[in-house]
Amino acid sequence: MIDEACTAILARCARAEISPEIAAMELLIATRSLAESIAAARARDALGAQIHAVIRLLDDHAADAATLTALLDGDLHAPPRDASIGERVALCKHLFDEAVTRSEEASVALYSLGDPVILEAATREIVAQLDRFGVLDPGRAALDLGCGIGRMEVALAPRLRVIEGVDVSPRMIAAARRRCAGIPNARLSISSGLDLADFADESFGLVLAVDSFPYLVQAGEALARAHFREAARVLDRGGDLVILSYSYGRGAAEESAEVRAFADASDLAVVIDGEAPFTLWNARAFVLKKV
Ligand SMILES: C[S@@+](CC[C@H](N)C(=O)[O-])C[C@H]1O[C@@H](n2cnc3c(N)ncnc32)[C@H](O)[C@@H]1O
Repeated sequence: MIDEACTAILARCARAEISPEIAAMELLIATRSLAESIAAARARDALGAQIHAVIRLLDDHAADAATLTALLDGDLHAPPRDASIGERVALCKHLFDEAVTRSEEASVALYSLGDPVILEAATREIVAQLDRFGVLDPGRAALDLGCGIGRMEVALAPRLRVIEGVDVSPRMIAAARRRCAGIPNARLSISSGLDLADFADESFGLVLAVDSFPYLVQAGEALARAHFREAARVLDRGGDLVILSYSYGRGAAEESAEVRAFADASDLAVVIDGEAPFTLWNARAFVLKKV
């Protein structure tokens, strides 16, 4: 089973469908072991340069292996089937509180392998795509839903009037406050995780969710749907909701159908429907405009 999974991951990487960073992360998830991940990649060494890059990445980050597998073990703590949305959000808050104390970089993007240089490169790609989508404007206020350690605040504050980062995890917000110290137009606060009740109607030109929607979706359809409604409420007319990564493990068609259904019910028009614009990260992007 594990061997088949590794073969499939490395074949996708060899065809350049996923980056070496994503392949390294997926191998670690499949094997839960750095040594086994390296062995799996070495066994397919003949597949070429992309696989050499995976081996190099895993070798170079061997010192972080224990941290990365501890983060993966944290992910195993699934809520009981009958858990309420509040209980699911509380578990998520706890897991991210724990994760960020182990590695700030890996806690927000496991494929960074805990490496600030890889995370920085991934952040630059995100900013480049936001530019291409035309959603950055020095007159705009932005809300960053599930802001984590504040990397998008640091990157985007110079491009926006103000950026408000909210996160359910107090320790994420503590890390974000440290990283954003001295950036006057970056504001940070702890949220309930249930809604955007702290913010007034029509108070933002952009709502951004970078890899936070998968946790809303995991907590239940009702929470994801509520956040579409809430995003539409706090957006100005003509404002944009940008979702980078909607779910973990769902296919493109299923994601697209759900995003369209929630958008239709919230006066949001889908402008970009699940394209995969990144080379480093394998997320699909959705851009929705408030009509
Ligand atoms: C994978 S991290 C991404 C962080 C950040 N957006 C980034 O890309 O660097 C997901 C973040 O979403 C936050 N999160 C999860 N569920 C949330 C909720 N219901 N409300 C607000 N934040 C949430 C987590 O605490 C975590 O910081």
